[in-house]
Amino acid sequence: MKKLRLGVLASGGGTNLQSLIDCCAKNSLAAEIAIVICNNPDAGALARAEKAGIKTCCINHRDFAERAAFDRKVVQRLQESGVGLVVLAGFMRIVGPIFLEAFPQRIINIHPALLPAFPGLHVQQQAIDYGARFSGCTVHFVDVGVDTGPIILQAVVPVLDGDSADDLAARILIEEHRLYPQAIQLFAEGRLQLEGRRVRILPLGSGPTS
Ligand code: GRF
Repeated sequence: MKKLRLGVLASGGGTNLQSLIDCCAKNSLAAEIAIVICNNPDAGALARAEKAGIKTCCINHRDFAERAAFDRKVVQRLQESGVGLVVLAGFMRIVGPIFLEAFPQRIINIHPALLPAFPGLHVQQQAIDYGARFSGCTVHFVDVGVDTGPIILQAVVPVLDGDSADDLAARILIEEHRLYPQAIQLFAEGRLQLEGRRVRILPLGSGPTS
């Protein structure tokens, strides 16, 4: 069976990308990473992809006068690479309508908080400052809002007394590295069915590609 082709968009260190590379390598994720695109030339994700022999592409948003032109360029590269699912892994750009029209219900993101609590940036510090006892991570489909799309999977971690934002981020990242491949595997098996805002997870063997 043809493997799902992933297009990973990243801006930073790329530990989530690394977990996807590792899961693909050991076949616990039935997908292949077709291309990694970064908007930041210094992104650690680029080096991780190159080391794994994955095609990379740096498209610096600063080289574009307007956002739509940047978006069109990224979409073009994804389409040229035959991508079936766009995976945002620490991609620090807003994904606008040009992306959503090109890949309807085929863009997912991971967010380091339990949505709908704490969307946006610096969310580990926000969870600490709020006094939340638990936080975690959320994998969701991307829609027109910021961190508002239908939720696929979530994992919970405790917020401990004395946690710094970095402490909490590290605890959450462990779960991210487990959760993201799991969600992508469900997508690859055709087991995610959208019903309005709700994502139904179909039993194994019932998806069209199973
Ligand atoms: C992760 O915490 C992810 O949830 C958020 O950005 C961070 C990316 O980390 N969207 P990394 O680059 O994958 O290490």
